[in-house]
Amino acid sequence: MERLIFATNNPHKLQEVAHILKGLFEVVGMNEAGFIEDIPENELTLEGNAKAKAQFIYSRTLANVFADDTGLEIESLNGEPGVFSARYAGQGKSSEDNLQLVLQKMESVGNRKAQFRTTICLILNNKEYLFEGIIKGIILTKKQGASGFGYDPIFQPDGYSESFAQMPMELKNQISHRGLATKKMVEFLIKGSQ
Ligand code: IMP
Repeated sequence: MERLIFATNNPHKLQEVAHILKGLFEVVGMNEAGFIEDIPENELTLEGNAKAKAQFIYSRTLANVFADDTGLEIESLNGEPGVFSARYAGQGKSSEDNLQLVLQKMESVGNRKAQFRTTICLILNNKEYLFEGIIKGIILTKKQGASGFGYDPIFQPDGYSESFAQMPMELKNQISHRGLATKKMVEFLIKGSQ
C-alpha cells in the first residue's frame, strides 16, 4: 500500500483522514514520520499555510506528503476567525478559549451564517496539487455535543439539526470540509494510479 505522510500532529485529524483513506493508502502522521516539532503556520491564507507545511516535510524527506489548513469563516465577522482559527484568542490559548471568543463576539448578532473551509496541498512525485472543501452552516448560540474537536460544538451544518459535535465521526467525515477536500484528493490519487 502506498504511504502518504499527513503533515499534522493533530490526532483527531489523523484519525479522520486515515479512516477515509483506509484500505487505499497508509496514512502516517508527523510523529510516525520522525518529526516531533510543530510546523510554523505564519502565512496569511489557508492555501499558503497548507503549502508551507507540505513543503516543510517534502524538503526534508522527498516523500509523498499532504498538509491541510482549515478556517472557520463567519459572515458577520468578515470571514473571521479564518486563517487565525487556531489562535483566535491569542497565542497559547486553548480551543475552548477560541470557541468562547466566537460565542462572545456573536452574542447579539442575527446573521449566524458561517462555513468551514479546508485547503489541502499534496506533493506527489515532486508536483504540487491543491484541493478545497467547504461546508456551510450556522454558529449556534451555545455549545451542543461533546465529540469532535475545535469549534465542532458550535457549528451546525445546513440541512442538519445537530452540531458537528453531536454527530458520529462517520457522518461528520462524509459531509465535512476536510472530508470533501480529502475526497477530492483521493479521487485524484485513484485516477492517477489507474
Ligand atoms: P488547523 O490550522 O487546520 O489545524 O485548524 C485551525 C483551527 O480550526 C483549529 O483551532 C482547529 O481546532 C479548528 N478546526 C479545524 N478543523 C476543525 C473541525 O473539523 N471542526 C472544528 N474545528 C476545526
